[in-house]
Amino acid sequence: MNTVNLTHQTTTQSTRVHGPCKINGAIKIAGSKNAALPILAASILSSQQPCVLSNIPQLTDTQHILNALMSLGTHVCLTDQDQLAVTPPSQSFTTLNQAITKNTRASILFLGPLLTKYKKANIALPGGCNIGQRPIDQHINGLEKMGASITITDGVVNATAPNGLTGCHIVMPSPASVGGTENIMMAACLAKGTTTITNPAMEPEVEDLIGFLVSMGAKIQYNNNDQLVIEGQERLIGTHYHIISDRIEAGTYLIAAAATQGSIQIKNCNPEHLSTLIHALQQSGHHILTKDQSVYLRAGTHTRAIDINTAPYPGFPTDLQPQWTSLACVSQGVTMVRESLFENRFQHIPELVKMGARIIHKSNREISITGNRNLKGIPVQVTDLRAGAALLIAGMCAKGTTTLVHSQYLDRGYLHLQEKLAQLGLTIE
Ligand code: UD1
Repeated sequence: MNTVNLTHQTTTQSTRVHGPCKINGAIKIAGSKNAALPILAASILSSQQPCVLSNIPQLTDTQHILNALMSLGTHVCLTDQDQLAVTPPSQSFTTLNQAITKNTRASILFLGPLLTKYKKANIALPGGCNIGQRPIDQHINGLEKMGASITITDGVVNATAPNGLTGCHIVMPSPASVGGTENIMMAACLAKGTTTITNPAMEPEVEDLIGFLVSMGAKIQYNNNDQLVIEGQERLIGTHYHIISDRIEAGTYLIAAAATQGSIQIKNCNPEHLSTLIHALQQSGHHILTKDQSVYLRAGTHTRAIDINTAPYPGFPTDLQPQWTSLACVSQGVTMVRESLFENRFQHIPELVKMGARIIHKSNREISITGNRNLKGIPVQVTDLRAGAALLIAGMCAKGTTTLVHSQYLDRGYLHLQEKLAQLGLTIE
């Protein structure tokens, strides 16, 4: 089996930040993690020619998906900085065991591609950030409707489609699953006939996957009735594709600059993908300018509290909710935060409260935060990727040293975090 190592993996890590400090400077945003992972999984749909993918973020989650690809027999080669060539074998293995899938939830994104191309997939139920139940019923229901037989036994999803998959009409529930839409769409590309997906998730990362599949020869259209229409093809071919930049990484740094009353230029991002966040930051009193692929933020004298409610794109992203919560801790006034997508995404709250934040749970989906600038640095426990980003921002605003215990979670989503913070005038240890 070939091996490619993008990252050095550490099991347990701590990060210290000394506050209060101020962000000031410019950074370049990496390729989108959530676009890269499904695109890497989709690369096995090619009939032997390589897919050359650029702007790949060299994160631990990317490494986990590459490990999965390589364990299936796919040849992966690092051809340039942030560029990979992925060549699937003519006959792939179709099993991903728990040792491979336990590290990232995105391993479930191999279900659709393996099933449609090789008619079989056995995937151990995936791990990943513990931010809720994260069921996969939408993935399974859609693929079953296309003719797959799927059972889950002893924590393994066993799927077969001996005669291949057949196109049909699938109506996604609201909110539609991002991964579920992606799995069904990838499967439909090589299915017989036409698949229509009504009410699909249409995050920028789903659109990027569509762009990639179309460049491989897939026929996919999004119509005025909120439907994706996919005409199945005999085969897809290799391609060159440049992945979009990471809107969540960009958003995290923008929120950090606002919270520390600093200024920042975010380079290499798509301001359109950040429009809801930009609007929220402007409403809270921060000055923002966008130009081409850059966003500039100069913090206002203070942050006005404004309520947020997470929702599918173009709504406020759930992946920026924890970071916004830290901003709310240092805002003027009371902020209501409602988390509509995941039921376990307030794990940063007890740690923020220990730092001196005034937060009350209104329900398991809603909190109210009364802002004050009196956070104090203490050791805090990181429980997942975005909770880690939130605690890091709180640590930047707090007086004294904040130690983020289990900060290795941050490596899943923030490329060169220490170097980028150094470019912004901040030292973390
Ligand atoms: C993706 C993103 C993640 C982001 C999330 C929502 C990747 C690799 N990850 O995750 O960062 O937070 O979208 O924008 O792209 N659900 C079901 N049934 C299913 C699947 C999901 O009920 O079969 C529910 C989930 O419990 C959750 C909601 O749908 O409440 C959203 O989940 P989903 O869109 O599937 O998230 P992911 O694709 O896992």
